[in-house]
Amino acid sequence: MTKVNASITALSAYVPEYRLTNKELEKMVDTNDEWIKTRTGILERRILKKEGEGTSYMAVQAINNLLERRGIGADEIDLIICATVTPDLVFPSTACIIADKIGAKNAFAYDLMAACSGFLYALATGQKFIESGTHKKVLIVGADKMSSIIDYEDRATCIIFGDGAGAVLLEPNEDGLGIQDSILKSDGHGRHYLHQKAGGSVKPASHETVDAREHFVYQDGKTVFKYAVTNMADVSAEIMERNGLTADDVAYLLAHQANKRIIDATANRMGVGSEKVLMNIERYGNTTNGTIPLLFWDFEKKFKKGDNLILAAFGGGFTWGSIYLKWAY
Ligand SMILES: CC(C)(COP(=O)(O)OP(=O)(O)OC[C@H]1O[C@@H](n2cnc3c(N)ncnc32)[C@H](O)[C@@H]1OP(=O)(O)O)[C@@H](O)C(=O)NCCC(=O)NCCS
Repeated sequence: MTKVNASITALSAYVPEYRLTNKELEKMVDTNDEWIKTRTGILERRILKKEGEGTSYMAVQAINNLLERRGIGADEIDLIICATVTPDLVFPSTACIIADKIGAKNAFAYDLMAACSGFLYALATGQKFIESGTHKKVLIVGADKMSSIIDYEDRATCIIFGDGAGAVLLEPNEDGLGIQDSILKSDGHGRHYLHQKAGGSVKPASHETVDAREHFVYQDGKTVFKYAVTNMADVSAEIMERNGLTADDVAYLLAHQANKRIIDATANRMGVGSEKVLMNIERYGNTTNGTIPLLFWDFEKKFKKGDNLILAAFGGGFTWGSIYLKWAY
């Protein structure tokens, strides 16, 4: 029997218009353009300023364009998995809201939470539904309105994050293209270093939690940096090794855009030259679940059928992982 792989057959992304530049951040917190550029690689990020709109708004912009490009209706979608840490509401899921807004009447939909590794986790999860033959058209969405949980008085975090969304469509492929392998990992001890203290069941929202600014992202940057560098590099090298790939075999590395120095370290460990490392962190910062689909969108024209792509991510949890895929169009 021919092996069925899950391959990406269409994609799109969306970023809001408003650009929050390093210069503007200089007026908000004690920081400077030079420090941000050299320590992170970020020049600006996009912020969703639309009153009353959240993560699903950006996801829907991306998905509607994706459906148009693929030439299919929303009613043909079987499943929507939305990776996000900034859902429109605590419940119901943002995926259900997206399904309703785009008119995906025949899809079941759910959210997946794995912080910055969420898009990779969702891609690997969607892959199983395609490979098992139960579902034929699976939408994988990565979307975050990080500006809704960022403290713009905290210079350690506000310089990093931005808003954005992207989506890919997974469909069956019988020509050996599509997702070849994935390695996904997690270590809950990492929760101490990157989290949102209040608003969950342990510490529900109260006047006190709001006054203490506990609904914003807390990050121990130095510690997260250390774990990110080691783990993202290890897992990317491991996926190459177990698939017999040399650096020459790899067409491009698409790594989570959290910090240019972490991405460079991963590429070094893989032995992959900088010309193969796709980067857009300078324009968007860290959009959490949006980074990898935004890379797909920005660099789609570079990819050729059969290209070996390595995806890699690291995020809160800790969660991390790598996916090896062969580009299908
Ligand atoms: C957040 C991050 C950019 C900070 O960079 P860093 O090189 O680790 O910086 P440090 O925290 O060691 O701080 C170095 C100095 O810069 C200062 N500093 C911190 N933020 C600053 C800012 N925005 N502007 C200017 N100076 C800043 C610190 O106070 C410190 O000063 P000191 O030496 O006088 O104490 C970096 O740690 C990082 O990218 N962490 C990982 C992010 C990540 O991958 N997240 C996970 C996935 S979402």
